[in-house]
Order: sequence, then structure tokens, then C-alpha cells
Amino acid sequence: MGSLSGRRIVLGVTGSIAAYKSALVVRGLVKAGAEVRVVMTPGAKTFITPLTLGTLSGNPVHSALTEDVEAGTWTDHVELGLWGDVVLVAPATAHTLAGMVEGRGDNLLLTVLLSAKCPVVVAPAMDRDMFLHAATTENLEKLAARGVHIIDPDTGELASGLTGKGRMAEPERIRTELTTWFKSQAPLIGYRALITSGPTQEPLDAVRYLGNRSSGRQGAAIALELAKRGMQVDYICGPSDIPTDHPGVHRVDVTTALEMKAAAEAALGAATPDVIIGAAAVADVRPRMTIDGKASKGELPDTIELVDNPDILAHLNAAAPDACYKVGFALAHGDGRAAALRKLSAKGCDLVVLNSITDKGAGFGHTTNRVDFVHGPDRIDSFELKTKEAVAVDLADEVQQQLLERPPLLTPLDD
Ligand code: C5P
Repeated sequence: MGSLSGRRIVLGVTGSIAAYKSALVVRGLVKAGAEVRVVMTPGAKTFITPLTLGTLSGNPVHSALTEDVEAGTWTDHVELGLWGDVVLVAPATAHTLAGMVEGRGDNLLLTVLLSAKCPVVVAPAMDRDMFLHAATTENLEKLAARGVHIIDPDTGELASGLTGKGRMAEPERIRTELTTWFKSQAPLIGYRALITSGPTQEPLDAVRYLGNRSSGRQGAAIALELAKRGMQVDYICGPSDIPTDHPGVHRVDVTTALEMKAAAEAALGAATPDVIIGAAAVADVRPRMTIDGKASKGELPDTIELVDNPDILAHLNAAAPDACYKVGFALAHGDGRAAALRKLSAKGCDLVVLNSITDKGAGFGHTTNRVDFVHGPDRIDSFELKTKEAVAVDLADEVQQQLLERPPLLTPLDD
């Protein structure tokens, strides 16, 4: 597996003489396993042809804002920005850096950079005095403050004949810096999660249901935290209006436990997850009969016969490979440690996240949670009351530690 296996890189090429080295940048990235889509500024095309970069990347090169003026089609910069795990601009001219600082959108690359949700890396290339100019220095400082990673240029002979700092970093250094940086930014790229979240609603008739007060907030926070770390997340969610907008979160909304089971099993069948997290508050039972339409008061039965819902997490855990890390949740009334330990083995989990509805500020409906991580009788980690986002960070840290000990079970490229 290449060091950049499965990583999607949008490579921006701008109008510097160093653009001739972009061919080697593309080749190095592709050889390391990355998928590369090149976006060229109009200026870049005077230094290197789209045909060269298109051939080496194996993908069409984009450079115009409009694809076909007559047909009225445009190049979808939003799609390009969302597609990439990173946008790498190499070489990045003083002009493009200034355009990024100002948020200009007068060429395709700048609009991609404005739309990108992913991190951005730039490899500046320019003449010594341009690089030393206060405008460039300030622009690089501003971009760094916004989180743009800068690959420092080399010092040496420049195209102008001058000697100094400004030569674009060699393609090999760009590739190694990018690989190291990727690992630090999104250490879980290439790994996959399957999460169930939210309540389920079990219909009595067209308007009435059995349900619970779960908001889906904890599951949503976990999905977003894992996606932020680079994971692809299949997020199967019962009725919940907590948003999970992130390109890495593939959300399937369901209503009943049976729908949740079917959607989760479909996701498991489509791509092997590295971690399964059952954060859903699945209704344990459902009415045996559902009345068609809305029953009038007199039509409602005196007693409702209930049947058990399947245990979704237990089914998923049994079907997933042993190497998949399996996490369940347990909501207890009072000290639920003994019950959590039982659930560990009964459901085939590696970890049960225990929370108690008797803890103030924890459980359903709150924005905070207080949890214990129950790994086994000899290891139970207790945490303070904290926001559900902070609990998600603790859980993601644990998941990350487990996953980084082995390669992904199935990389996105194998999908
Ligand atoms: O047995 P209990 O409902 O306490 O177990 C809670 C854990 O099991 C949670 O992780 C929940 O998502 C999962 N579960 C499930 N399907 C059910 C019941 C619980 O996936 N029918």
C-alpha cells in the first residue's frame, strides 16, 4: 500500500516556471497511491500543457470556469472542493497567494479554494525578491494563521539568475511533507466507521408511535469527530434533527428499528467498517400490529401487543470481522457497571460506553454527558461531566489508538 494510498488530492498548478516540476509532483503522488485531479490557472498553461498533467494524473485537467460556453455548462468547483482530502497548490505564485488571502474567485483554482472544505497546502515558488517582499511575507503569515500548511521553498539558483530563497520545494520533498502532514491532520484517512444513532419510532398507526427521548446528539458528535479525523462514516440515524454535514458522513435517515437494521446491514455489506458504534437508542419492542391510517379514539385497542425488536448491534458485531472494533452504549439507572460488563460479552463488544440517567446533566436531551468506558472487569475509565462533543473526542481518541495498530480493513480505493 502506497504512503498516500486512497488519498484524494486536488493539485492546483499556477503560472510559475516551477510548473514544469508539477509533472514530477503528479507522478510522485500517483505512484504513492493518491488519486490526483489537476486544476490549472490560465497562467500555468504557458509553462506546461494540460495534456502532460492529464496523462500523468489519469484524470481530465480542469482550468476554465465554464466548460462549454455555448452549452452553458460550468466546471463544478464546489464538487472539486468537496472531492479532495486536500488541495495542494504547487507551485503557488505570489499572485495566487494574494488571491487566496483576499478571497478572490477570478479563476477556477481560486473558486475551488474558496469552496474547499478540506485542508489546503501550498508550495510557494517565485523569485527571491518577490518571496522576500513584505506583501508575500504578510500573505503567507495570514494564510498560515487560517490553517494553510506552507511547504517552505528551497534556497538556490533561481530562473532569474539570482540566488536565494524562492525555488519550489523539490517534488520528492513535497510528497514526503504531504504524507507526514496528512498523518498528523487526518490520521484516520482510509478507515471506515458504521454508526447507529438517535431514537427509533415504532408506529401504532399513521400518527402514533412508541419511542424514546434520544436526540441523536451524542451519535452525531461522534460521527463528525471521526469524519474530521479522516474517516468515512456510514451514519444510520433514527428521527433526529441534529445536523451531520460533513463530506465524510454518509447519512441514512430511518424511522423504525427494522429500517435501522436493514440500513446498517446494507452499509456493512457494501464496505467493511473498521469500527462499529451502536449509539442508537433502539426501541426494545414494537407493536405487533400497526393500524392503517389514523385510528379514531374508539378504534384504539385497550391493550397493545408488543414484540421484541432485533438487537441491531449484536447482529452487526456478529457479522463483522473480528478485527473490527465494536462499541456499544449502555444507559443505566444508577450504577450500571455490572450490566455494562454483561453487555460487553452478550453483544460482542470490545467497549461499552456507560452513561447513567441518574447522573445530573447526563444522558438523553442534555448537551452534556458523563460516561465510563467499560473495556472489561479490569479496565473501566471514568470521565468527568463534559459536552457531548468532548465525549466524542475521548471516544475518537480510543478508537484511533485501536485502529492505528493495524491497516484499514478495506481502503476506500478497494470499494
Ligand atoms: O440492551 P441495551 O438496549 O441496553 O443495549 C444498548 C446498546 O445496544 C446500544 O449500543 C444500542 O445502540 C444497542 N442496541 C441495538 N439494538 C437494540 C437494542 C440495543 O443495537 N434492539
